[in-house]
Amino acid sequence: MRKTLEINGERLQRRIARLAEIGAIEGGGCARLALSDADKAGRDLVCEWMRELGLEISIDAIGNVVGTRAGRQPGLAVMTGSHIDTVRTGGRYDGNLGVLAGLEVVATLNDARIETEYPLAVAFFTNEEGARFAPDMMGSLVFTGVLGLDDALRTVGIDGSTVNENLVRIGYAGDAPTPAVTPRAFVELHVEQGPVLDYGGIEIGVVESVQGISWAEIEIHGISNHAGTTPMALRRDAGWVAGAIIHFVRELANEIGGNQVSTVGRIEFFPNLINVVPNRATLTVDLRNTDETLLRGAESRLDTFLETLRVAEKVQITTRRLARFEPVIFAPEMTGRIERIAQAQGLSTRRMPSGAGHDAQMLAAVCPTAMIFIPSVDGISHNVLEYSHPQHIEAGANVLLSVLCELTGSA
Ligand code: GLV
Ligand code: MN
Ligand code: MN
Repeated sequence: MRKTLEINGERLQRRIARLAEIGAIEGGGCARLALSDADKAGRDLVCEWMRELGLEISIDAIGNVVGTRAGRQPGLAVMTGSHIDTVRTGGRYDGNLGVLAGLEVVATLNDARIETEYPLAVAFFTNEEGARFAPDMMGSLVFTGVLGLDDALRTVGIDGSTVNENLVRIGYAGDAPTPAVTPRAFVELHVEQGPVLDYGGIEIGVVESVQGISWAEIEIHGISNHAGTTPMALRRDAGWVAGAIIHFVRELANEIGGNQVSTVGRIEFFPNLINVVPNRATLTVDLRNTDETLLRGAESRLDTFLETLRVAEKVQITTRRLARFEPVIFAPEMTGRIERIAQAQGLSTRRMPSGAGHDAQMLAAVCPTAMIFIPSVDGISHNVLEYSHPQHIEAGANVLLSVLCELTGSA
């Protein structure tokens, strides 16, 4: 099969660059934390593009935005999309590519005056990153009915404000119902965010699964005392206990091996002064594995370690679950379709799991879903240095175009 229709790579790059101007940070990256003013400005721009492309926009009560291009027959839309929120030190491709490639597919169909049998929708979901409000993938969780709207709206973020306050403040608390009407199918194009494709010289990743994610916030309460006068044996040092946890989860991942990864990404000490033993420490633990049994094992070993610390260090420890998702396997008919189309376009492919969380893993619960990955240079992501080559972006968007044409009945 030869490509009969192709996306316009330059137009897509222009949109990526323009969106990256919003919340731009030094080094070429973006800071558009979910529901921040920068997120609002990014949303406004993408909505303006959706309107220019003739899409009918709907916004639901958690702020998910869906732009729909009508098909010859009404009914369930084939959906693509991703997210446009970023971590505070994010790149310009994570999430944004999937949304803007979706708009590029629409622009290509519009230019060629192609009607599709079924509607085609491009969505961006609220708070995929979870960097400000946990859990991550919040918008797609509410969209699919896995998380209740009220629970999501009352979530308190790292700055103490709620999802609801911020949604209302930025004007994106819409009235489309949640859970939403299930799409006919969902396909998400995304940068890999890891090194497998780049180091392997492969152009397209056919994503078969997403690994399980376990997020927890651990709070340790000890006793503050004078750093110079308190003998080591008499300390109830919340800071030391936090350090021991950091060391433990790293060793745990090394010991389990395989796909097990572990990260402590956020930590706070109180009162956070040079000459005071900390009386409180809060830290987050992110554990992931493609194997649910191994992930449960890692969680349980961490729990046992916390209990040992509690007794030995005479501190109080509380754990709050921030997110928990089991590994997800995508629909074989969807992964097979992506692989066949990419290979027919002369592209090298590799079947692989996703290490990062994605909205597609939530959509997989309600409709046939899969993802297309393109290489991330040196596997760098959640970093301003995140980069994907224009030819890979174009190749990925062309695979997306053909997959969507097949699914909407216009191939
Ligand atoms: C989302 O980007 C995640 O995988 O943490
Ligand atoms: Mn992403
Ligand atoms: Mn991300």
